[in-house]
Amino acid sequence: MVTRYKKNNLRTATLALLLPICLSVSFPVRSAGVVTGDGPALGPLESRTRQIDLQSDVKSLRQIRQMGIKIFTTQFRHADGFGDGPIELGGRPTLQDNGTFLRVNGLDSQTCVACHDVVSADAAPAILGVGGSAGIGSSAMFMTRAIDAADATGNGFAAFDGRLINPPALFGVGGVQLVAKEMTAKLQELKRQAINNPGVQVQLNVKGVDFGHVVADQAGNLDTAGVEGVDLDLVVRPFGRKGEFATVRQFDVGALMFHFGMQPVESVGRDVDADGDGVANEITIGELSALEIFLTTQERPVQLSMDKFARSGFRQFKRVGCAGCHKPAMNTKNQYLSYSYPEVETDPGLNVYFEVDLTAPPSGFQKGRRGGLVVPMFSDLKRHDMGPELAEDFHAATAQQNSEFITAKLWGVADSAPYLHDGRALTLNEAIYLHGGEAQSVRDTYVALSIPEKNELIAFLLTLRNPRNPNADVLE
Ligand code: HEC
Ligand code: HEC
Repeated sequence: MVTRYKKNNLRTATLALLLPICLSVSFPVRSAGVVTGDGPALGPLESRTRQIDLQSDVKSLRQIRQMGIKIFTTQFRHADGFGDGPIELGGRPTLQDNGTFLRVNGLDSQTCVACHDVVSADAAPAILGVGGSAGIGSSAMFMTRAIDAADATGNGFAAFDGRLINPPALFGVGGVQLVAKEMTAKLQELKRQAINNPGVQVQLNVKGVDFGHVVADQAGNLDTAGVEGVDLDLVVRPFGRKGEFATVRQFDVGALMFHFGMQPVESVGRDVDADGDGVANEITIGELSALEIFLTTQERPVQLSMDKFARSGFRQFKRVGCAGCHKPAMNTKNQYLSYSYPEVETDPGLNVYFEVDLTAPPSGFQKGRRGGLVVPMFSDLKRHDMGPELAEDFHAATAQQNSEFITAKLWGVADSAPYLHDGRALTLNEAIYLHGGEAQSVRDTYVALSIPEKNELIAFLLTLRNPRNPNADVLE
């Protein structure tokens, strides 16, 4: 495994100098007189992962992955900072005032792996493992205010005004992050090009994906009315079903707070107990780094060899137009994914403290013919309007936001039922039938195929598998 540490980065160097000083200040842990099992599952602060451990070139990737999987699989306890503090400090209520869980707006589990544990749902019993997807029972319910179980509107549905989101698998996310970073870097370059050439319309075509266009006026103001499928700051955010997070690290920060009420130091500050639950330093900067490095170096999904039937299904997939959004593969220029802290979204090359070679195990991406990687994720990382049928009815979103989703990555899709953002499609065929909006005409072409032709296309989708034995390097 090649890991490279960039020593020439000024901010990294400053961070490296400051961190050991800050981290040597020990913080009181609730260890004195604690009943066995009640102390922090992550252990005392002195023993926990520090950022300096990751950037000192001393730890191997495997050791860092071990630290990361520990965060991902730990059953957090109150002594780790599980839970919110008092409602006056922004804490959430708990269900029936039980003091621990809420379930309908987070505080919905004790460990990440509770919702990311199905490696294959296409087996009985399901094959379980770290980093997978999950069934409906593990779906997150986001920002719920009301559930109309009595169905006051009489339309057959108990209205639910939050978002219901089914967990996706996390394999191969390092390749996804690298593609997105390169797309962002290119979009920022095109933005500068527009600003330097007032009045000239600049096409935002990046890695074969068309994000519309921008034009600047003489004063340097950018007109973004022609931008499509990406945020107006032209940062590609591949994570979350709506495409809201640029990096796994950002997603993880949100996940820790939402699911567990665990507040990362980088959100609330060092030694600060912002939620008033009696614990500070709930997740350190180093722990988040290790978590991100662990997740982004997992194996990627695989494609089984295709028989004649599946090959002709792949041709259908392209002929019908599925590949327009579900782009079979994207190539990167670089084979190294670099990690930054603090992150600067519009300049993903800043503050780099660590790099990994994604062609090396465990990620094991195939090298591209002209260098870089091939990332066969079957997505364009662009948001699309999927029509009124799939649209959510989320109170805090605009109509456009409610109907837009980032193209779901289809790698591993044979193993990850149920499908679509809320898991409403139990089979692949159902998932395709439910496409609307920008996908309407492609969906209609699929619907018009004969059953044998549809079967070929599905046979092709069934070659897209999760890795069989993920994270074996850190599980023995
Ligand atoms: C209660 C279930 C649940 C738990 C617990 C959970 N997740 Fe998730 N995870 C989800 C759901 C649902 C999504 C999709 C969210 C969305 O689209 O906004 C998701 C998405 C993700 C993604 C983005 C994947 C992608 O391709 O878009 C990452 C990364 C992730 N989770 C990491 C974590 C980490 C790290 C933890 C623990 C700190 C965790 N999750 C805990 C349900 C869960
Ligand atoms: C306009 C872009 C677009 C086209 C064209 C398109 N899709 Fe999709 N597809 C999406 C988006 C966006 C989602 C995610 C929707 C959601 O989460 O509700 C999706 C989701 C899926 C899923 C569910 C994946 C999962 O993990 O939940 C499958 C399967 C799928 N598409 C297959 C196809 C096939 C086969 C075709 C061609 C017949 C096709 N799609 C055409 C954009 C498209």
